Amino acid sequence: MGGWLYLCRFDEIPEGRGRTVEAAGARLAVLRDGDAVTVLFDRCPHAGGSLGSGWIEDHEVLCPLHRWRFRLRDGRCTTIPGHSANVVESRVESGEVWGRIGQG
Ligand code: FES
Repeated sequence: MGGWLYLCRFDEIPEGRGRTVEAAGARLAVLRDGDAVTVLFDRCPHAGGSLGSGWIEDHEVLCPLHRWRFRLRDGRCTTIPGHSANVVESRVESGEVWGRIGQG
């Protein structure tokens, strides 16, 4: 891993929501908050809910299972501190969303 992976087109992500994509064997949540995109691993640290099926309020994504909240900018859980979601490095280029799964 380590290289940039194509995830989806920006206009395929509904505003204020997300979608789940698979890349290099990983399930990723691609989330759109206005013009900004955040990519997280699509597994809520609470009980494995799909964050890509969640929705966004106040720059946080809510897990659809039990509504824990995660800050988009750093994945930090604001419902139960210490249970952060994992952020994937991402960029939008020419209307395409790309992600890079870290070395870890
Ligand atoms: S699985 Fe996400 S809040 Fe419970």
